[in-house]
Amino acid sequence: MSDSQLVLFLLPSILSLVLIFILMQRKQARYNLPPGNMGWPFLGETIGYLKPYTAISVGEFMENHIARYGKIYRSNLFGEPTIVSADAGLNRFILQNEGRLFECSYPRSIGGILGKWSMLVQVGDMHRDMRIISLNFLSHARLRTHLLKEVEKHTLLVLGSWKENSVFSAQDEAKKFTFNLMAKNIMSLDPGKPETEQLKKEYVTFMKGVVSAPLNFPGTPYRKALKSRSTILKFIEEKMKERIVRMEEGVENLEEDDLLGWVLKHSNLSTEQILDLILSLLFAGHETSSVAIALAIYFLEGCPSAIQQLQEEHTEIARAKKQSGEVELNWDDYKKMEFTQCVINETLRLGNVVRFLHRKALKDVRYRGYDIPCGWKVLPVIAAVHLDSTLFDQPQHFNPWRWQNSSNTRGSSSNNYASMTPSSNHFLPFGGGPRLCAGSELAKLEMAVFIHHLVLNYRWELAENDQAFAFPFVDFPKGLPIIVKRHSTHYP
Ligand code: HEM
Repeated sequence: MSDSQLVLFLLPSILSLVLIFILMQRKQARYNLPPGNMGWPFLGETIGYLKPYTAISVGEFMENHIARYGKIYRSNLFGEPTIVSADAGLNRFILQNEGRLFECSYPRSIGGILGKWSMLVQVGDMHRDMRIISLNFLSHARLRTHLLKEVEKHTLLVLGSWKENSVFSAQDEAKKFTFNLMAKNIMSLDPGKPETEQLKKEYVTFMKGVVSAPLNFPGTPYRKALKSRSTILKFIEEKMKERIVRMEEGVENLEEDDLLGWVLKHSNLSTEQILDLILSLLFAGHETSSVAIALAIYFLEGCPSAIQQLQEEHTEIARAKKQSGEVELNWDDYKKMEFTQCVINETLRLGNVVRFLHRKALKDVRYRGYDIPCGWKVLPVIAAVHLDSTLFDQPQHFNPWRWQNSSNTRGSSSNNYASMTPSSNHFLPFGGGPRLCAGSELAKLEMAVFIHHLVLNYRWELAENDQAFAFPFVDFPKGLPIIVKRHSTHYP
């Protein structure tokens, strides 16, 4: 084909693109959009937005954009016109109006890998049904009666395997803990068994793809993850079939308390839906809490006075238990972990495990004089609020004491804390509104029990310099290598 033929061939497509662009510009002119820059055609500003940065900051891109345009600005991200919000009020407004003015809208690649029935991408009735199942699995009653024991058992299993004076990855250990816990409670898989270890291995490959660029070519992490996804789903399906046979045979089993048993007995979901639900709960419940625990280990290492205060709190709890002849932690013990809750809050505020959420506008929305056009993507950046110096004093400083006397310290409705700190209103590590994290109470319980046994049994230091980066998923590039020493005094 000659050059002139090629130009003639491409001309209609080029003209259509120009026309679409002009129409979009005209349409946008009707709106009072927030200030901003739409960046390059198609790519927009995505590359700058996703550039890794230290997790205790909002990153250069965000800093520059906020300085230039303010806390609400427009951009073009992930191939779509987008309103980015670092504004506490707008973020709350977006989350509270889920399903009315805004709707959860994750990039297509997330649905491709987590599955089209994954809870994270579902909206409407199916989301509601799956949410009810998850909330039932993670209910307050189950936390008290069942999950607390499980959390403690799996904590001790991991901490008990730590060898003094050897270097290991704290991040991997935290992942081991949360994976074992979820695998046991979702599908009754026992830690250390070959099938559990095999699943864990597949899961690592799967996770690398979830957080990679969605390039479906041979050899890419995304392609490998899609392969692992089908292996994992086959495994879960096998487990499902075995369970159905046992249920039909009427064999009483101890496993009926797990999520798989519950879903099979009490829901009308199809096999495909159950598989995606289980995979997404394994994902939501494993990755996030393990990063949060690694962050706590990291922040505490740099704050000896917080470790000291934690030791006092947990030694007191352990001493009282010893006196009463009890061994296992119970709910009353958990409720005594007040300073620990401050440490957890501060870890979540400063580390920002989940940094921003994906939404889209269902209608034209007007907020403080700005228009958010129907169909536009909206990104509430919860991390930007947590690190906002007008809302939190010295926001990049790890200061658990800022949470003392806060009504937000315990999160559950059973707390007795009196006054609100001004900042607690702006603290949304678990999102908010109808999609508030279904596992927030479990996550806090995991962190508290892990911290309890950690500070009672070990002292630790970083074996090598490492720090958390936002890619934007939070990760320690070296895996947070630590070296531990046992305390001379042991408590149960
Ligand atoms: C520190 C740990 C955790 C953090 C920071 C976290 C954060 C979040 C956030 C921000 C959301 C909202 C997503 C959105 O609105 O688009 C979410 C949703 C969710 N989380 Fe968590 N999470 C954590 C642990 C857990 C755990 C342990 C589980 C338990 C299995 C869990 C299960 C879920 C589920 C099922 C949803 C979807 C809720 C829905 O769409 O209705 N999360 N999480």
